[in-house]
Amino acid sequence: MIIEVEGLKKHFGSVEALRGVDFSVAEGQVLGLLGPNGAGKTTAVRILTTLIPPSGGRATVCGYDVAHDAAAVRRVIGLAGQATAISPDLTGLENLEMAGRLYHLGKALSRKRADELMVRFDLADAAGRQAKTYSGGMLRRLDLAASLISRPRVLFLDEPTTGLDPRSRVGMWGVIRELVQNGTTLLLTTQYMEEADELADDIVVIDHGVVIARGTSEELKDRIGGDVVEFSVDDRSVTHEAVQAVSAAGEAPATVDADTGRVQVRAGGRGSQVLVDVVRALDGAGMATSGLALRRPSLDDVFMSLTGHAAEQGGSGAPGRRRRGRAGRGDAKAAVGPRPQGAASTDGTVRTGRPAPEQVGER
Ligand SMILES: Nc1ncnc2c1ncn2[C@@H]1O[C@H](COP(=O)(O)OP(=O)(O)OP(=O)(O)O)[C@@H](O)[C@H]1O
Ligand SMILES: [Mg+2]
Repeated sequence: MIIEVEGLKKHFGSVEALRGVDFSVAEGQVLGLLGPNGAGKTTAVRILTTLIPPSGGRATVCGYDVAHDAAAVRRVIGLAGQATAISPDLTGLENLEMAGRLYHLGKALSRKRADELMVRFDLADAAGRQAKTYSGGMLRRLDLAASLISRPRVLFLDEPTTGLDPRSRVGMWGVIRELVQNGTTLLLTTQYMEEADELADDIVVIDHGVVIARGTSEELKDRIGGDVVEFSVDDRSVTHEAVQAVSAAGEAPATVDADTGRVQVRAGGRGSQVLVDVVRALDGAGMATSGLALRRPSLDDVFMSLTGHAAEQGGSGAPGRRRRGRAGRGDAKAAVGPRPQGAASTDGTVRTGRPAPEQVGER
């Protein structure tokens, strides 16, 4: 295993950010660490990238212990994401060259790789512009490019697409997929079900510092009972009758989403049969319905069923969902924990050997 995490704990004073987390990632695999605000995702990434020491448990990257062999860990990893480490007054190209020099790549090699990365990340036209003039999406790409200058075996991406518009997000997914095709092992944190679904081989769901589920996206979806048949009743006042009419068709009694009025019938692995049965039952009861559909459960459904709350607001479009702790987010990011012993500073200033960056971008 390239990344191994056992019983990992971290507390900040009385806040228990991680309460005994286990997972592992095999070479060339993508692990999606999925959870809502404050779940402990960034804390896990910061420990694995040697920025802060764990309070308990252990973690290794490429066999090196993050607490005792931090320098060796830093040589094999790259980190990009929430704590953007780009110097706003330097040009894009200069930022990459500087990242290369910090890895002792030498002037010529740093320049060569910087040039290649600017082209690859579609930033060549902006290479001579100061980073502070870049858009949010460009900064994310530059940050990711900087993390790749040393050609790391293991890459950590902390919410690589949060705050990006849908087009930039899809573009970023393409870039990430390419990296994985080239053999990079990746640990990615995200609040977006869709993103974990798109990119991750395995998903670990964390909430309040503990792992609440793990598996492939398909396995997690199967856990909540396979396919779902959904429809709306045109006359909402008879929704209850519709539920009774179709309940025998599904694997479990049908349910109604209080916000949308959509009736949902769990279909297990017999999606099309249940769909037919539901149509017959509704016909028999003379009910007019709309939007009848058979769908696989989304990871949103999984998160809902595991935690009783949605993971995030964007994307799903379902009303009544809200982000937790959004207001406190800026504070949490700015907060600096106790100075670790023998590891890089806690405030993101070292970040796999890169220099004290000023924070740029929206964070
Ligand atoms: N330096 C710190 N000092 C005190 N508390 C901290 C510190 N860093 C994180 N925390 C707390 O630890 C918990 C986990 O935070 P963490 O940043 O790991 O969450 P996250 O899953 O990355 O959330 P987000 O999606 O908002 O980025 C939160 O309650 C947070 O307030
Ligand atoms: Mg975070």
